[in-house]
Amino acid sequence: MISAETEPRIADAFTAAGQGQVLRHLASLAPRARAEFLAQLAEVDLPLMARLIAGSGDGKTDLSRLAPAPYAALGSPTADARAHGESLLRAGKVAAFTVAGGQGTRLGWKGPKGTYPATVVTGKPLFRVFAEQIAAAEKRHGCAIPWYIMTSPLNDADTHAFFKDNNWFGRNPADTFLFPQGTMPSITLDGKLMLETPGSLAVNPDGHGGAIRALHHSGALEDMKARGIVHLSYFQVDNPLVRIADPVFLGLHAHSAGSSGEMSSKMVAKRDAAEKVGVFCDIGGKTGVVEYSDMPAELTGATDASGRLRFNAGSIAIHLISVEFLDRLTAGDFALPFHRARKKVPYWCDAQAKTVEPAEPNAIKFEAFVFDALALAAKSLVMETARVEEFAPIKNASGDDSPASSHQIQSNRNGAWLEKFGVRVPRRANGDVDARIEILAETALEADDLADAALPREIGAGAEFVL
Ligand code: UD1
Repeated sequence: MISAETEPRIADAFTAAGQGQVLRHLASLAPRARAEFLAQLAEVDLPLMARLIAGSGDGKTDLSRLAPAPYAALGSPTADARAHGESLLRAGKVAAFTVAGGQGTRLGWKGPKGTYPATVVTGKPLFRVFAEQIAAAEKRHGCAIPWYIMTSPLNDADTHAFFKDNNWFGRNPADTFLFPQGTMPSITLDGKLMLETPGSLAVNPDGHGGAIRALHHSGALEDMKARGIVHLSYFQVDNPLVRIADPVFLGLHAHSAGSSGEMSSKMVAKRDAAEKVGVFCDIGGKTGVVEYSDMPAELTGATDASGRLRFNAGSIAIHLISVEFLDRLTAGDFALPFHRARKKVPYWCDAQAKTVEPAEPNAIKFEAFVFDALALAAKSLVMETARVEEFAPIKNASGDDSPASSHQIQSNRNGAWLEKFGVRVPRRANGDVDARIEILAETALEADDLADAALPREIGAGAEFVL
């Protein structure tokens, strides 16, 4: 609670920082609203904001030192890795971690993105898809896989309600840990903090990089340590095909010479130069990701002698992160850089006495990116995987990375799994499967799990099929 003595100090600090405009309605707020607003102001790191507004400390990569990152190519031998990964799972040393704090504005879905109906036939919401996959992996390896989910202050209550309404998807709530990430104030294009209402700042979730701090602050990291968790399987809420706690990836991450076992990543070959994915690069001797929006066009489009994209290692935002690494990062004086993005941020308009939704970008948001932690690992491994197997994100309402494109990739993956065991699957001239095919996690986590399944001989063109 803010005391009568600290109140003027908070106000003075904002005035001294040239941000006194946010105090303009303070005197007219009711006591409770005033106390809440002051508590929000007290949380703002004004020196950090001043540095960011001045343009320092933000996450610009030195592009003169970029080279393509090395990676373990598709088809590398994996038998040992799988055995190592499976033993980690059996020993209960692996947890799942979903970042679900994003605002999902591009999709235009009102609720948290994890509540979006994602699967191609039964329309299961993303959170259920992940819960069922985790349950199937727990059964297979005879272990518990605790699940940590980062929400944001904007969707935390709705996410909790969704889990509760769905009876925690049959999970033990004690093994499911939801916690909100932090926020950062948005600023106007000329560097001023903004009000969303007379008694609240306009803030945005502090990016998935905020996960590292939030894991610590929420007690999730302590909880992991108490349970003996060693590695976290990190993934985004938008990808229903993610392979959670993939044993092969776990084994490579934990045991291969190219990895310090701190933080590893999966990549797919980019679809084309224009695809909006971050790219794994060697940045002055360290593996990192350069976001698509930061990559200069001449590098994005550069090709090698065989005509292949030079920077082709597209990030699918799937990582393994060791608890020890997270502990080390959060114990020290650690901070990931903030990246700035021009966005439309609702703001309080005094003249209209209401919160206004701008038509054009009016503000800068600051976000930290989890992949900036890669540079802090001693040696970081990147593993290539097949796009059709593991990447069908739902980000946009239509076009690329939309529900429609995700459904097609899901059917393509499932069709290929069935074909492996002799099922005839209809395909269009472009190679896409011409049917809607869903395979439940309890039926198969990967193609070879279908070896003993009762399979049809054929799927009809345009049919719906659930296995
Ligand atoms: C992201 C990656 C991109 C990668 C692509 C793969 C970034 C900046 N870019 O792009 O390199 O190739 O995915 O699909 O991440 N989130 C939070 N809190 C936040 C912001 C985001 O939890 O404050 C979560 C979202 O809920 C989502 C994920 O992070 O699960 C990705 O967020 P988004 O900002 O949509 O990134 P993309 O542009 O999709």
